[in-house]
Amino acid sequence: MAQIQEYQDLVLDALETVEFKLIRDKADIHNDALIFHPAMAHQIFGESETIFGYQDLHVRVLYTAGPLHIYLGIEYEKRVNEISGGEIKADDVVATIAQSLPDGCFFINLDEFLKTLDKADKFQPFGEKLSEYTHRSANGTERHFEIYQCDYKMSSFLKFFARLQTFILWFVDAASYIDTDDMQWSYFVCYEKYKNNDDEYQYATAGYTSVYEYYAYPQNKRPRISQMLVLPPFQKLGLATELVQTIYKYYQSQKNVIDITVEDPSEDFQRLRNFVDARLCQGLKSFARTEVTKGFSKEMVREARETFKLNPRQVRKIYELLRLYYTNVHDDKEYKAYRLEVKKRLNAVYYKQLKDIKKMERAKMDTEFLRKSVPNIQQRMEQLQEEYLLVEQDYKNTIQKLSA
Ligand SMILES: CC(C)(COP(=O)(O)OP(=O)(O)OC[C@H]1O[C@@H](n2cnc3c(N)ncnc32)[C@H](O)[C@@H]1OP(=O)(O)O)[C@@H](O)C(=O)NCCC(=O)NCCS
Repeated sequence: MAQIQEYQDLVLDALETVEFKLIRDKADIHNDALIFHPAMAHQIFGESETIFGYQDLHVRVLYTAGPLHIYLGIEYEKRVNEISGGEIKADDVVATIAQSLPDGCFFINLDEFLKTLDKADKFQPFGEKLSEYTHRSANGTERHFEIYQCDYKMSSFLKFFARLQTFILWFVDAASYIDTDDMQWSYFVCYEKYKNNDDEYQYATAGYTSVYEYYAYPQNKRPRISQMLVLPPFQKLGLATELVQTIYKYYQSQKNVIDITVEDPSEDFQRLRNFVDARLCQGLKSFARTEVTKGFSKEMVREARETFKLNPRQVRKIYELLRLYYTNVHDDKEYKAYRLEVKKRLNAVYYKQLKDIKKMERAKMDTEFLRKSVPNIQQRMEQLQEEYLLVEQDYKNTIQKLSA
């Protein structure tokens, strides 16, 4: 009897095997230069991110570039079912991926899928246009992008969005689909406006952000940026930067918006946000060089909140970043003052823990366990130095871009 271990060479890496393509034209089906792979696959294929049972497998997930109709298909050389005489079965890849797709919105027949492409030139962005952006490459080529806002009221958008958010499981860690029935979601979608082969304008979907508008007492709201995804073929063109700025502008004029927060930002996103926020705050009075070098102030929080809806925690980061920008690191005294300022913030939680323990001890409570869980002063100093260096490096990277 055949043993599954005999077929170790048929265990494939899903990240290499799964191939996405955004199809603008029928010829794109055969253009391998358009292929991009997932960044992760554990939500679909489990922790090992593997697919079992095939030789030379290609899992093709094709989307029409604008409306994002989906085709799902596989091609392979050989399958374990046949090699093992039917004793061992290969993973049912299509069924596994299909579980993550919205009901009935994918094709397994390529011709049927391609028929939807005939109508793709009619595809128009949903909702209200908020901004436009032109990207110029080094060789002078221009690409034009537009960002639109939409909400739950447009049912045709929600159907489209159900397809758009299928990317999230493959590209954003720990992401899950949002409940589009919830009326507090607001969507910002970026499209490329390009000329097709008939020299007519057409739209391709490039990325999106979903924002949850939390209620805040008594009649206010605090929008929280939840998901943000720029599809890989459109990354590093400045689109996320543009999306963030468009969202700020959109909420800026709304008096009942307190501030904007971000849910679990990825490192890439936090870096981008720091850059956008620092560039914006540089233009504010309270962030002038003379003010920043005096120290953190309530005025900074007020002005950044009022002008760009930045939340206080983010304002503090931007203050530190800009203070480093203005600090002469070759002046020992100035640089030391800067380091102390940042370390004071980084250590606040540690000192609060110590204070709480002392309070408990005064109340004659048993703190032995808690004391053990908190590092001693020496250990903390070492940790602090490591934390500081990471923060400083991060700020330095952004400063480099600000100075460019
Ligand atoms: C994080 C993410 C949203 C960024 O999108 P993006 O459109 O590529 O972002 P931008 O192009 O505005 O900026 C990205 C980088 O490209 C650089 N960039 C911007 N325009 C550029 C250009 N014309 N040429 C070269 N680089 C450029 C930016 O300076 C930035 O540099 P950094 O990585 O050092 O910060 C995108 O990579 C993504 O969707 N990732 C997967 C999902 C994810 O992590 N989402 C965030 C969850 S909170």
